[in-house]
Amino acid sequence: MSASQRPDPSQDRSPLSDDALQAGHEQIIGKQPDEKGRYRLLPLNLLFLFSGLIFVGGTYLGRFSGHFHPKVFNEYGQPPKAGAVAAVAVDPLVLGKNVYVQVCAACHQPTGLGLPPAFPPLAGSEWVSGSEERLIRIVLHGLQGPIKVMGVEYIGAMPAAGPGSGYNLSPEKVAAVLTYIRKEWGGVEAPVAAGKVAEVRGKEGNRQPWTAAELEKIP
Ligand code: HEC
Repeated sequence: MSASQRPDPSQDRSPLSDDALQAGHEQIIGKQPDEKGRYRLLPLNLLFLFSGLIFVGGTYLGRFSGHFHPKVFNEYGQPPKAGAVAAVAVDPLVLGKNVYVQVCAACHQPTGLGLPPAFPPLAGSEWVSGSEERLIRIVLHGLQGPIKVMGVEYIGAMPAAGPGSGYNLSPEKVAAVLTYIRKEWGGVEAPVAAGKVAEVRGKEGNRQPWTAAELEKIP
């Protein structure tokens, strides 16, 4: 900066010095600088208050929002209707897989391919994809004697698994495991209903294992 550009003190006609201006403004703003001459934008206690609110709010949402999942998050705080509870009930395919692993897989194998010549396959079996009435009876009461599965004859005995048998599976579990074996290996048959299993069980009661010849007379 050259000397000619410097403001000439004699030209400064303001009656107030810089310090006086500063002090006047400070009075208007109502703020005082701290001991190092700096102004604070936000009072510290306000900063703490907002941090606290954000923390409490965030914790509340994390704890109670249910990740906004429609089955958990109840936006209007009303008790769910009866139908909504049923929709959350156990998936028959999950229940069916559990039953299969615990009861059937020992003989028919986790792959559903069976263990010839002792245990016939379920994957691809015409007994599985065929009549629901026969399939339900096989699991409820068991099966014995010769049976042809996918062109191969087996002569063995399958224990009963329905209510009152050694496995004592409820109609709901029998329905679930049949739904599972009909679906798991690429089948397209409709799921088996627990009501249907209970109906067949009511009709036949407890009885000795079926033979394939007896079952073939049932549609
Ligand atoms: C202890 C071994 C054993 C268990 C456990 C068992 N099965 Fe069997 N299953 C057999 C045998 C053996 C046969 C063939 C019976 C015959 O020769 O008459 C058979 C036949 C079948 C058949 C008809 C033939 C076919 O392959 O499609 C179906 C369906 C069936 N079982 C389903 C099941 C289901 C579902 C379960 C579980 C709830 C189960 N089995 C548990 C041994 C078993």
